Amino acid sequence: MDLFSPVILGDLELANRVAMAPLTRMRSGDSGVPGDLVVEHYAQRASIGLIVTEGTYPNHESQAFVGQPGIVTDEQVAGWRRVAEAVHARGGRIVMQVMHGGRVTHPDTNGGRRVVAPSAIAIDGVARTTTGKHPYPVPHALTTEEVRDVVRDFRRAAERAVEAGLDGVEIHGANGYLLHEFLAPSSNVRDDEYGGSPENRARLVVEVVTAVAEAIGAGRVGLRISPEHGIQDALEPDRDDVLATYGALLDQLRPLGLAYLSVLHREPAGELVQELRRRFGGPLMANSGFSTVTTRQEALALIEAAHADVVAVGRPVIANPDLVERWAGEHPENEPRTHLFYAPGAEGYTDYPVLRAG
Ligand SMILES: Cc1cc2nc3c(=O)[nH]c(=O)nc-3n(C[C@H](O)[C@H](O)[C@H](O)COP(=O)(O)O)c2cc1C
Repeated sequence: MDLFSPVILGDLELANRVAMAPLTRMRSGDSGVPGDLVVEHYAQRASIGLIVTEGTYPNHESQAFVGQPGIVTDEQVAGWRRVAEAVHARGGRIVMQVMHGGRVTHPDTNGGRRVVAPSAIAIDGVARTTTGKHPYPVPHALTTEEVRDVVRDFRRAAERAVEAGLDGVEIHGANGYLLHEFLAPSSNVRDDEYGGSPENRARLVVEVVTAVAEAIGAGRVGLRISPEHGIQDALEPDRDDVLATYGALLDQLRPLGLAYLSVLHREPAGELVQELRRRFGGPLMANSGFSTVTTRQEALALIEAAHADVVAVGRPVIANPDLVERWAGEHPENEPRTHLFYAPGAEGYTDYPVLRAG
């Protein structure tokens, strides 16, 4: 297989096997409405096989970052419609990463609302808010009834993303945010049907993905997971427990026929990821995580060895809107300016040069 060859993920037809990894850039202001700059940013990257948007909140209390976009209000839907139209006009494909921030937020970020999680356990660390850095608060442990509201909010968000013209959604079950908090034993000590056993910890993710697939069609739904990531105090130290939890999850998702499973793990070709891929039974999107930046060589090798169907690429896509052309032609790459990842404005966002203008 060739990184630059087309591929079909469920209902999504991709021109190549490079995906833009979801990348939070915090440029949607207080309203959470993607504006001109965000439209331009995604449109510039339309030659990537599949754009996965930055994590986007499905209800107000789930907002994790200042300037993060949402998919709650009519204005937010209208903003995303402009993004989708601009990407489609350039022949691209775009799905929305729907992200509930869970306990990784603060009232000074989410508009003074509750901070919620599976259990009342705070992250040991500080949140960056509109009023500076503050310790993460002890979250409200969602009641069983409120957990069902989360399922409803994901479903609505997916419907609104499709209404806005996006090609589908990716459910964010990774990186220590709400769904991952349910999966990980360190953040979930519930004693109802959503906690305790591996099957119970997997239950919310199964329900969310199933509800979203019912609402918009499984062929346009992906799921991102990051087992063993060990981030934001969502810890999964026991490999047997990880296999039991994610195995239970994927066994139940398998019959749905989702578009793809995206896995962030330091060893995409290793035993765990390949076992989870077998259990899932559908296309795998791989990403080796934050410790080293994805390289052309790594992406080519993963596809050539058939260890993945698609490679999600993060920081190189920030710095190279035309990354696919550069990689295909073995051209040099721009270096990402990391201090501007979360800065406001066009600098470090829409001003990276392309090889050929026009
Ligand atoms: C600035 C930045 C923002 C990110 N935002 C998200 C996000 O919103 N959702 C998500 O699942 N991962 C997010 N990630 C993780 C990336 O999707 C990706 O897994 C990571 O950058 C490693 O891939 P790379 O080496 O190709 O950059 C982010 C990473 C960076 C650097």
